[in-house]
Amino acid sequence: MRIVIPRERVPLEARVALVPESVSKLVKSGVEVVVEHEAGASASFPDALYTAAGATIAADYASCVSGAHLICKVQPPTADETAAIPEGAAVICYLQPAVYPEAVQRLNGRKASALALELVPRITRAQSMDVLSSQATISGYRSVLLGASALGRLMPMLSTAAGTLAPAKVFVLGAGVAGLQAIATARRLGAIVSGFDVRPAAREQILSLGAQVLKVEGADAEGAGGYAKEQSAEAAQKTQDAIKAHLAQQDLVITTAAIPGRKAPVLVTAEALQGMKPGAVIVDLAAETGGNAVGTRAGETVEIGGVKILGPINVPSQAPFHASQMLSRNIHTLLQHVITKDGALNLDANDEITGAMLVCQNGTVRV
Ligand code: NAI
Repeated sequence: MRIVIPRERVPLEARVALVPESVSKLVKSGVEVVVEHEAGASASFPDALYTAAGATIAADYASCVSGAHLICKVQPPTADETAAIPEGAAVICYLQPAVYPEAVQRLNGRKASALALELVPRITRAQSMDVLSSQATISGYRSVLLGASALGRLMPMLSTAAGTLAPAKVFVLGAGVAGLQAIATARRLGAIVSGFDVRPAAREQILSLGAQVLKVEGADAEGAGGYAKEQSAEAAQKTQDAIKAHLAQQDLVITTAAIPGRKAPVLVTAEALQGMKPGAVIVDLAAETGGNAVGTRAGETVEIGGVKILGPINVPSQAPFHASQMLSRNIHTLLQHVITKDGALNLDANDEITGAMLVCQNGTVRV
């Protein structure tokens, strides 16, 4: 079987789907791996490391995908990329079928089988294949660094000959994978950290990291599978009021609140924004799904009434080495799940993991 790794062409994408460590394991298991020239360069994995891992380097995209059985990518293939894919090949990448239905249709037109990385089921057995968790870990960490850099204050308390500096107050809204990592990172930088989530389990986790929890009576909204669901109108109003009062004290606010398949909830209202301190910074990790703060613009930094709102996109790509390393381990575990002992690809639509991720197969779109 031939697995190929093309170079990512989408702007702001510095990750690579498989790093040399995983390639070496695949080659040892009898898989042929072809890597497009400089596919790993932007993540600091030069061609020489892939060659040392046993891969062949292809000069360009067309020669890379020629004869491929499986294409491992980060971003969905563009129209030109899809046109060069051998008919009937399989593709593993982020696909977001609801956002990019045309990318799925194009792949289906080539009779490709496509597995969408972000559709990995959140079950224990699939944890090591879970790109949502691995990449959210990177986003949570980076969000604090982005916020700290944009802040006109330092994070820790400092007692110096020039006087004492008060520590920054950091508030993390949404304590899932990214939020908990943001809390841990802000604590390490010496800030006074608090957090809030609508899931009671997340509130326990905030406390276990040594941060404070913003308490809101009746705010609980836990849905199926340990995910959040939408709050009732009354609970949402109470939550917004409590958040508004708390925001007035904060220097750095990291927002990560998401509801699967829905637009992100607005938690920082225009009124709450008005009450914030001048010089405060919001890093809105939900920017790509509409934002948790009023005024957030995806991919931009805006300033409203002295408050800076950062709406970073593709944050994991800002730490491409470790983001790729984690992504690659997730994808390699997935490959071990779908490659049989005889080295064939088995994309079984009835399998709990493969079936959940399989977007199209044999000319049929499944989601
Ligand atoms: P996510 O990215 O969908 O959401 C981020 C956070 O926002 C969540 O903690 C959610 O509760 C919170 N949120 C939603 N609406 C909110 C609101 N109005 N106010 C405040 N917070 C709000 O979630 P993520 O981080 O991908 O995972 C969340 C949970 O999923 C985990 O904590 C865990 O329970 C479960 N999970 C299970 C896994 C497994 O079993 N393999 C792997 C990873 C996560």
